[in-house]
Amino acid sequence: MSLNFDKMDLPPRPKLFDFNGVSMTHFFTQNWENVQNFQARPDDILIATYPKAGTTWVSQILDMLYFGQTCPGRLTTLPIYERVPFLEMAIPNLLTGKDQADELPTTPRLIKTHFPVQFVPKAFWEQNCRIVYVARNAKDNMVSYYHFDCMNQGQPEAGDWNSFFQRFMDGNMVFGPWYDHVNGWWKKKQTYSNIHYMFYEDMIEDTGREIDKLCAFIGLSPSAEEKERVTIGVQFDNMKKNKMANYSTLPIMDFKVSPFMRKGKVGDWKNYFTVAQNEQFDADYKKKMKDPTLQLRCVI
Ligand code: A3P
Repeated sequence: MSLNFDKMDLPPRPKLFDFNGVSMTHFFTQNWENVQNFQARPDDILIATYPKAGTTWVSQILDMLYFGQTCPGRLTTLPIYERVPFLEMAIPNLLTGKDQADELPTTPRLIKTHFPVQFVPKAFWEQNCRIVYVARNAKDNMVSYYHFDCMNQGQPEAGDWNSFFQRFMDGNMVFGPWYDHVNGWWKKKQTYSNIHYMFYEDMIEDTGREIDKLCAFIGLSPSAEEKERVTIGVQFDNMKKNKMANYSTLPIMDFKVSPFMRKGKVGDWKNYFTVAQNEQFDADYKKKMKDPTLQLRCVI
């Protein structure tokens, strides 16, 4: 399986448009019918996140847990985007995420999506697949998304920080409002028990503890050495150095603008939000985040 990135002509930056009530770009909607008809299998694991919430981190953890022992060559020769296909991705000259997922030789198949919950293909629910959702506090998520949109030619132009800040609050982001995304998935968890809802901040606080919880959810019991190997392998500095995890092999991303593995911290928002922006953000947040059971930490 090859994504043939070398020969890829970089496409022009896409525009946002409304798609069934959610801001999207054609890179994630043009294969809609095929994606919606995706044949999920009962042992598939769907990794669902709002962009920049820690998708790659949890993908690498799951891949190491499942295949680190049985198939170590996979981790050293295949980039993360081939090991864990991005289901809805459909960029010209590349194998679609759906086709990549179809071709995955592993059991289970690890599949990534940024879809809001209402867009998830029905087969995942019908097959009662396990779903791992990662949420990240809105402020750091916004900052990370801003840098990502600056460096990734596959995303709409970021514009300047102030306009991006406003757009994020307005929900005019690819995959829609952060607020709806985290709340929609949280609500789904109340009726669909096979969702493990994780928080980026918890992973920063105690990666080992969160790996234990994840293992309990997926039914794996790694040995102490194996767990140690995974915990060390997925430390930020190690993933940043790891060409098979850090996206440095994708020409669509310009690392001169910003690396994919940028800071990996909680609280970087303080370096970007002005005092006035922070007040505006908090007031707006209070109006949008009404469910007291969903609490995200923007400091730890
Ligand atoms: P920053 O831009 O704040 O550094 P995603 O994989 O969903 O696109 O998320 C990317 C964000 O997760 C980036 O955040 C990236 O640095 C961070 N990240 C990736 N791997 C990480 C790790 N091992 N530890 C901490 N943060 C990590």
